[in-house]
Amino acid sequence: MGRQSGVMQSGLPLFLGQLIRYPHRVVALAPSSRALAARMAREVPKNHSGPVIELGAGTGKITQALLDHGVADHDIHAFELNADFVALMRRAFPRVNTHHAPAQEMEQLGLTGARAVVSGLPLLSMPNAVQQEIVESAFKAMGPDGVFVQFTYGPNPPVSDGVRRVMGLTWKKSEKIWGNLPPARVYAFRRNLI
Ligand SMILES: C[S@@+](CC[C@H](N)C(=O)[O-])C[C@H]1O[C@@H](n2cnc3c(N)ncnc32)[C@H](O)[C@@H]1O
Repeated sequence: MGRQSGVMQSGLPLFLGQLIRYPHRVVALAPSSRALAARMAREVPKNHSGPVIELGAGTGKITQALLDHGVADHDIHAFELNADFVALMRRAFPRVNTHHAPAQEMEQLGLTGARAVVSGLPLLSMPNAVQQEIVESAFKAMGPDGVFVQFTYGPNPPVSDGVRRVMGLTWKKSEKIWGNLPPARVYAFRRNLI
């Protein structure tokens, strides 16, 4: 599937409509820019194969960046709650595995050996228990070497302080991506098992 172009194909009108209907779930002014999506995808290791799990796929900006990064379409498992976004994803990326399900249900897929989990979820706006459920499930699907990639517009790491501490997460953060609306940073979390 070639790269989409144009405002309609960008999913922007759909995104804005869903933002108005579901502000607490969409929680972004616009889909991620190409620069932010590419920066997220860069955190996915290229030195081994295996599934890549995407959470909160929306209109597929990060999905496209994962494909551009060299991840095979059939290796991507994308979770999305919103039925209209799911329909768009399935039309745009027919060979990507798009699951119309909450990220909290990722474990039910029984995936193992994932090389990364890449999240566009509004994680910090979720209760700590839900954040922990999602991040725990992500590391179960990846194993100890996995990386959980999440962007944020805010000044703090996009997993709550409490969850980071309980789970022993370490992280590195990217430069600020000014070309995004609003500017954002990408965090790559790893689990410190020592
Ligand atoms: C900030 S938007 C990001 C969309 C897209 N990844 C991007 O970067 O442009 C958040 C997306 O997460 C979805 N979402 C919110 N809560 C979710 C959940 N618990 N499970 C799966 N998707 C969820 C929303 O429907 C929305 O599409």
